[in-house]
Amino acid sequence: MATLYSGIESLVTNDLALDKGILGELEQAAFIEQDGQIVWLGESKDAPDADNEVNLEGKSVIPGFVDSHAHLVFAGERAKEFEARMSGKKYSASGIMTTVHATRAASDEQLDENIATRAIEMYRSGITTFETKSGYGLNVADELRSVRLAVQHTEDVTFMGAHVVPEEFKNRRDEYVSLVMGEMLEACAPYSRWIDVFCDQGAFDYEESKAILEAGIAQGLLPRIHANQLAQGRGVELAVELGCASADHCTHLSSKDLELLASSNTVATLLPGAEFSTRAEYPDAKRLWDAGVSVALATDCNPGSSYTTSMPFCIAVAVRDMHFTPEQALWSATMGGAKALQREDVGMLAVGKSADFVILDAPSFRHIAYRPGVDLIQETVISGTSIYRSNK
Ligand code: NIG
Ligand code: FE
Repeated sequence: MATLYSGIESLVTNDLALDKGILGELEQAAFIEQDGQIVWLGESKDAPDADNEVNLEGKSVIPGFVDSHAHLVFAGERAKEFEARMSGKKYSASGIMTTVHATRAASDEQLDENIATRAIEMYRSGITTFETKSGYGLNVADELRSVRLAVQHTEDVTFMGAHVVPEEFKNRRDEYVSLVMGEMLEACAPYSRWIDVFCDQGAFDYEESKAILEAGIAQGLLPRIHANQLAQGRGVELAVELGCASADHCTHLSSKDLELLASSNTVATLLPGAEFSTRAEYPDAKRLWDAGVSVALATDCNPGSSYTTSMPFCIAVAVRDMHFTPEQALWSATMGGAKALQREDVGMLAVGKSADFVILDAPSFRHIAYRPGVDLIQETVISGTSIYRSNK
């Protein structure tokens, strides 16, 4: 069954071959979806016939958002910690243990339901692909069940036993690092595509992070890293050295870090929700773009530093406070995310790509940042199937 979507005021394709800027934006456009894929795309006036036609009457369409960084396997919440931060308390990685206790105490059913609830929120915000990490179990059994539950919801599961050193290993860091690299990794690798380490102040240092990521690579996992969120350090350097798909946060970047990123294939993933929610200074996306770095935008959804599943919120903050142009922000939240997850099938609307798209109740994507806080997601479609439709 082929469905023609016509009457699209603005269609973002991210297809550079169209020679219409970085977003490959077509006006008065149409496309045809069949068997979950895009089979034709172009100007409305050239559209061939199809079995069905959906006339979008001047609305706009964008590729589904690709959220390349989220921590959805957790229980509990930390609103009081957020409240204290808004009154001046500094964010610290030590808050992670609060969520570890709640997660260890939760049943499998509770954890699974929490992931599903956050995933539904994501669909409502236009996200069609998301990554999710373990990292609130921090022992073999709870990390293993985290990745086993996560893989029921996404193919991009990341093993992150190296989130922090848990309290019970306080004076035995080396033992914990050995556990992560050994038994824990071996248990979690079959359910994971990625390995991640929080390489930062209060978490893991360069040497520890390097050993853990290399152990993951040896088990066939692909590396990514939390780097330079809380302080300048060697996280970005390590990301480039190991060929990580992405270095995430990049809040504190030296000019050397910038040069390293620009000369590599590592994507810099910016997480505006984290700076917003920890009242930290925003990184300057313009500096990264001007240096030629590939940038992604992601939610970092987690109960501590960024409890949002809203990509439109992240885009609005990124444009306002990180100095992205609306075009760059949209690209980073779609194509940038796909690059950060090394996914060829999503992030773009072109013949042969997955029909993952969002219908916006607005004449163009520019309204996402222009109308902050307003729900413009009319419909979210994954592989040609509608998974959320607004009842406004
Ligand atoms: O990406 N930075 C490390 N991990 C999360 C925060 C986790 C937490 O505070 O619970 C992040 O911001
Ligand atoms: Fe994170």
